[in-house]
Amino acid sequence: MSGARIYLDNAATSWPKCKPAVEAAVDFINNCGATSGRGTYTSGQLADRWLSRARLALSQLIGADNANCIAMCSSGTHALNAALRGVLKAGDHVIATRAEHNSVLRPLEWLKHHGDITVDYAEVDGCGRPQIASAAGLASDATRLICVGHASNVTGAVTDLQPWQELASQCSAKLLVDASQTLGYQSINVKDSSIDLLCAAGHKGLGGLQGTGFLYATEEIRIDFTPLMLGGTGLRSESIAPVQPWPNVVEAGNLNLPGIVSMAVAAETLLRDQTRIGCWRDAFTQLVSNTQNTPGLNLVGWADEIASDHLLPESLDQRIPVASYHVVHSSPHDLAAILNDFHGIEVRAGLHCAGLIHPSIGGGTSGTDSGTLRVSPGHHTTSDEIDRFTLAINEITTAIA
Ligand SMILES: Cc1ncc(COP(=O)(O)O)c(C=O)c1O
Repeated sequence: MSGARIYLDNAATSWPKCKPAVEAAVDFINNCGATSGRGTYTSGQLADRWLSRARLALSQLIGADNANCIAMCSSGTHALNAALRGVLKAGDHVIATRAEHNSVLRPLEWLKHHGDITVDYAEVDGCGRPQIASAAGLASDATRLICVGHASNVTGAVTDLQPWQELASQCSAKLLVDASQTLGYQSINVKDSSIDLLCAAGHKGLGGLQGTGFLYATEEIRIDFTPLMLGGTGLRSESIAPVQPWPNVVEAGNLNLPGIVSMAVAAETLLRDQTRIGCWRDAFTQLVSNTQNTPGLNLVGWADEIASDHLLPESLDQRIPVASYHVVHSSPHDLAAILNDFHGIEVRAGLHCAGLIHPSIGGGTSGTDSGTLRVSPGHHTTSDEIDRFTLAINEITTAIA
C-alpha cells in the first residue's frame, strides 16, 4: 500500500467534514460546552443562540419559511423514526418504495407487525428510481402517508419529486421525503415540492459531525404529533403533562450541541456559496467515465446514459455521488477487502441497508456475491484519488478475471 488512505464511503458518512463546521464545533466544546434550554447564564444563552442559528440555517437550506419547523435529531434514522411514529395512527395505510433504507422499512414493518398500519411498496426501475405508476396503483382511501427517498443510497439515482407530490395530493395523503443522501449534494425545496415531512442526516453531504440529523414538518403536521421520546425539554417544568410545543416535543433530553453547531456552520457555508453543493461533479464524472467499461465490473443503473452517451452534464442533476457495481468474477466483499488491505482505499460492499432494491437492479440479496461494491466520493475527493482508485480496481479485476 502506498500513499495516504483514500476514503470513498461518503454515502455512509462524509469525510473530511466541512472544515469551518469542525472548527466551530471544536471551539464550542473548548470555550462554551453548555447545553441549550436549561440555563439563563451566559454560556447557556450562547448554546441557545447556536440552536436557533442551526434551525434558521437548515430551514433556509431546504426552503422552509419558519425556523421552528426544524427539530434536531441524532441521525437520519432518528428523524425518520420520529416522523413515522409522529404521524401514523392505527388503521393508516402507507405507501413506501422498494428503494428505501432500513430506517424507513424497519419502523414501518414494526408498526405493521404490531397491527397498527398497513404498508405497500412501490416498485423501482433498473436505475433504482421508484416508479410512480406502481405507487399510484397502491393508493386507496386509507392511504395517509407516502414515503419516498430523494435518492437511492445504492445507485445514486435522484427521484423527481413532482409526481409524488401530485399523487399525495390526489389521495389526500402526506408526503414524507428522506433527504438523507441528497442534502448537500442536490438542492431541495420543501415548499416547491409540497413536502410535509423531510428527514435528513447532518453528517453526510451536509458535512456536519456524526450524531446529527433533523426533521422538518409543516404546521399542519406539527399540531398533531406523537412524540417518540418524552423527557426534559427545559420548558414548562411546572407540569408533568407530556404535551410540549414543536420542535421541543421531538427534542427531549440534552441535545448534541457540538453536532448542532457543526450543522449550523455547514448549512451557512452552503448557503453562502451554493456552488459548493455541486463540487463533487468533476470527481464523480471521472469515476463513472473511468469505470463504465471496466471488465468484471458492471456499473449499476446507468444503462440509459451510457447507451445515449449522455453521462454529462445534465444526467448529474439526477444523481448524487454514488456509483455501485455488480462484481462478475469475485464478490463485492472480496474486492472491498483487497482495495482496503492492499491499496488503502475504503469503499463499502453489500446491500447498504436497502435490501428490497437489489432484485430490481439485477442483484442478489443472499450469498457472498450479493449486493454491490459501492464507491461514493464526496465534496473533497480529488482527481488523483479517483485515478488511484481506477488503477487499483483495474489491477484487481484483471488479476482475478
Ligand atoms: C437513504 C438513507 N436514509 C436514511 C439513512 C440513515 O441515516 P443515518 O445514517 O444518519 O442514520 C441513510 C444512511 O445511510 C440513508 O442512506
